[in-house]
Amino acid sequence: MSGSDSNDAGHAAAEELVLVLDFGSQTAQLIARRVRDQNVFCQIVRHDLSAARIRELNPSGLIFSGGPASVYADGAPAIDPDILDLGIPVLGICYGMQITCHTLGGRILPADSREFGRAPCTHSASADTNQLFHGLPATFTAWMSHGDQVEALSGDFETIASTATCPNAAVRHHSRPIYGLQFHPEVTHTEFGGQLLGNFVRRICGCNGTWEISSLIEFQKQRIREQVGDRRVVCGLSGGVDSSVVAALISEAIGDQLSCIFVDNGLLRKGERQDVEEQFTQHFNTDLRVVDASHEFLSELAGVTDPQQKRRIIGRVFIEIFRKEAESIPDAVFLAQGTLYPDVIESGANPDGPAATIKFHHNVGGLPEELGFELIEPLRDLFKDEVRRMGEQLGLPERMVWRHPFPGPGLAVRCPGEVSEDRLQILREADAILIDELHKNDLYQQIQQAFVVLLPVQTVGVMGDDRTYEYVAAIRAIETEDFMTADWFHFPQDILGHISNRIINSVRGINRVVYDVSSKPPATIEWE
Ligand code: XMP
Repeated sequence: MSGSDSNDAGHAAAEELVLVLDFGSQTAQLIARRVRDQNVFCQIVRHDLSAARIRELNPSGLIFSGGPASVYADGAPAIDPDILDLGIPVLGICYGMQITCHTLGGRILPADSREFGRAPCTHSASADTNQLFHGLPATFTAWMSHGDQVEALSGDFETIASTATCPNAAVRHHSRPIYGLQFHPEVTHTEFGGQLLGNFVRRICGCNGTWEISSLIEFQKQRIREQVGDRRVVCGLSGGVDSSVVAALISEAIGDQLSCIFVDNGLLRKGERQDVEEQFTQHFNTDLRVVDASHEFLSELAGVTDPQQKRRIIGRVFIEIFRKEAESIPDAVFLAQGTLYPDVIESGANPDGPAATIKFHHNVGGLPEELGFELIEPLRDLFKDEVRRMGEQLGLPERMVWRHPFPGPGLAVRCPGEVSEDRLQILREADAILIDELHKNDLYQQIQQAFVVLLPVQTVGVMGDDRTYEYVAAIRAIETEDFMTADWFHFPQDILGHISNRIINSVRGINRVVYDVSSKPPATIEWE
C-alpha cells in the first residue's frame, strides 16, 4: 500500500467530522485547525466533491472556504448544487458565501478593487435566533479580504451582520441551516473568530467535540499492530519532532520489532547526534542504528555552491546510505514516515483532497517508492501542533517536542557558497549561542524557527589592536502559523545586541552579525 488507505484513519477514530470544501483558499488549513480546536475532526476536500460522496462521508457540517475566483468568471469553481439539499449545515466563507448565494439565486457585485483589513462588524439578529453569533458582543472586529461581495440576496436569505462597506457581511437561510460570512473567522485578526466557528460546529452542526489525541494514539497503535503482525518496521529518525513521534508511537505499539536508522550527514547542529542517541536509548526500547556518513556527504558536496544541486546531492546520498543500512535489517517490510496532513493536502495524494492547490513541497530526506517498503504514516491526518501534543502525551521530552523545524539538507543550506567542515564548525557554534539565548530569555517557543546563516562574505574588523578579516553571520528568526508566510521576529534590542556580542566574542571566524528583517513572501525562511 502507499499509505493512502490510511486517509480515513483520523475519521475512523472520530465520531464527528466536518469537511472544508477548498476553493483555492490560502487559509483552508487554518479553518480546519480552528475546527479541530473544538475537538471535532476536520478534513479538507476538493470543492467539487459530489453530493453523493459527501453523503457517504456523513459529515456533521460543511464549510466552504474562500478562494481567488469570481463566481461569474469562466471556469469559476462551483459546487454540486445538490449539496445544499442534503440538510447538512453549511457555512460559506468569503467566496464560499458568494458561491452559496449565487447557487441559490442571489446576485454578486463584482468589484474593481479589493477590501482588505479590519472592519467593525455589527450583527443584528437576537441571540436566541442567531446561534452563529452566540456569546459575541453586538459589534466586533472582522477581517475582510475580498473583491466581490453579495449584493442582493434571494428571498430565502436574510442579513444577520453588516459592516460600513459590506451590507451583507453575514447571512442566513430562512429554512435551511445555511450560513454565509463575507469576512474570515479563521484568521486571528477577526475577534471571536474561533468562538464563531465553535458556534457553527457545536450549536449549528450539533457536534459534541469528542475527538482527542489520546484516542487517536490508541487507535493508531492498534492499527499498526494489526498491519505489522510479526514483521519488522524501519524508521528513519532525523531528530525532528515528526520522526521522533512516529518512532515513539510505533515503539509503543510493537516494541522491539522496530529498528530506527539515524544518518549523521555531517550537516547537523551542535550536539544533535548525541542528543538523539541519548533520547532514544533513554526513552525507548528500540534498536537504534546510527550511521556516521559525514565523510560521504561532505566529499560529495565539495566545490558545490548551487543550492538546488546541494539539495539533489544530499537527497541522493541519503537514499544510498539509508538503503544500505536498511538492507542489513532482516524482515524489514515496512517503512515508517512522519508525513503530516499539510504534506498530504499539498501532494494531492488523497483522491477527495484539493489537488488543484498543489504547492511546492520540499522533500529532501524523503525516500522513494523503489525502496520497496510498505509505508506506515500514522501522522498523515495531523497538523504540526497536534503532532506536538501527541509527542507530549507519548512522554517525549519537551525539548524534542518543541524543537524548531530543521531542513533535510541541514546546515548545507545555511552555509551559502561552498560547504566545508571549517565553515560548518563556525556556523554550529554561532547557532548554538543563538538557540541558548532564546531559551535563556524565554523566547524559544514564541519564535517558530530561528537559526544562524554563515555568509560567504568576509569583512574587516578590529579586535584589540589587530585588524581582523572574518565572516559575517546573519540571524534569522521568524513568527509564523504555517511556514507558508512568515514575519521576522521583533527582538527586544538589548537581547539582539547581547546575542551579537556573544557570537562575535566567542566564535572565532565571525567578526560581524546582521539581523534578517525580511518577511516571507517575498523572502523565504531559509536563505537557500
Ligand atoms: P522556506 O525556506 O521555503 O522554508 O520558506 C519553509 C520551511 O521548510 C523548511 N525547508 C525544508 N525542509 N527540506 C526540508 O525538509 C528542505 O529542503 C527544506 N527547505 C526549507 C524550512 O526550514 C522552513 O521550516
